[in-house]
Amino acid sequence: MVDTNDEWIRQRTGIAQRHIASERELTSDLAVKAAENAITNANISVGDIDLIIVATTTPDKTFPSCATIVQNKLVCKNAFAFDVQAACSGFVYAMTVADSLIKSNEKIKHALVIGAETISRIVNWEDRATCVLFGDGAGAVIMGSTAYNIKTEVPENFIKGIVSTNLHSDGNTDILYTSGGVSSTIDSGKICMNGREMFKHAVDKLASVIEETLEHNHLKISEVDWFIPHQANIRIIESVTKKLDFPIEKVINVVEKHANTSTASIPLALDCGVQELKVKHGNTVMLIAIGAGLTWGSILLRY
Ligand code: ACO
Repeated sequence: MVDTNDEWIRQRTGIAQRHIASERELTSDLAVKAAENAITNANISVGDIDLIIVATTTPDKTFPSCATIVQNKLVCKNAFAFDVQAACSGFVYAMTVADSLIKSNEKIKHALVIGAETISRIVNWEDRATCVLFGDGAGAVIMGSTAYNIKTEVPENFIKGIVSTNLHSDGNTDILYTSGGVSSTIDSGKICMNGREMFKHAVDKLASVIEETLEHNHLKISEVDWFIPHQANIRIIESVTKKLDFPIEKVINVVEKHANTSTASIPLALDCGVQELKVKHGNTVMLIAIGAGLTWGSILLRY
């Protein structure tokens, strides 16, 4: 389709393969598959879910939300459901919202949080600078409420859960955007990006949010077992580890398997880390995201 080659893509991005949804597969279909796996792995049933949040930039329809379509497909009667849109940072935003809702509403015992995209639908397949970067996918987690009050009764050996969250945006909408949308051009538009600028912002913002999160939690880099960044490009990840001087072996890096799946990239990487027996119970894990908007943020958790 465009003048490119495998060597260029591997060297500049670290991407070796990606998945593209078939025409009949919608974002909600990918989301449902990820949700079903998460529900099975968490050893709960659909009826136990009280909240569904889908982070996506490529919902099936303008409305209803992808989350309510997932609710319908899962036949998940007891939950309330909505979408979160923060581009590639969507999953970190969605987990933060779920965490706040769980902590403020004791009725929410289990939240299903999904990152799902058919981003191939909004790729400009004639633009070689962007069309080689993106892939479709979905990942999901179940977040549960703890039996104790996190503010007053944290057990001595705090077992697992979200330790802190940290979100940012700066309203810089000229570097990465779609060429249209419902209100401007009726169709959803195609991805447009200034790759070099995005690269610089990604490195700076991912590094600064790591530093902020460490400082806020009085942690050293060595005390974090795993960093799980948004999987856009191996060179961005390498640059962040060089900037902060920590070994790349502490990073879950699966960009070669999936390419950039936007909101799905962090849950997919987390799942790979768990499946490959790298991320283990008790580990301190930092999720770090960056996306259009610009949006960025982190979640520190004990797995
Ligand atoms: N195949 C072959 N050549 C290409 C391709 C391609 N797919 N794409 C661009 N080129 C060419 C350019 O035309 C240019 O040619 P020229 O020198 O003759 O003009 C040359 O390669 C260098 O182009 P640059 O844009 O300077 O290449 P760069 O080294 O910056 O790499 C890339 C481009 C990979 C997009 C890089 O800028 C990058 O990784 N940016 C980060 C953006 C990113 O990953 N965004 C994802 C979305 S953001 C997010 O998810 C948070």
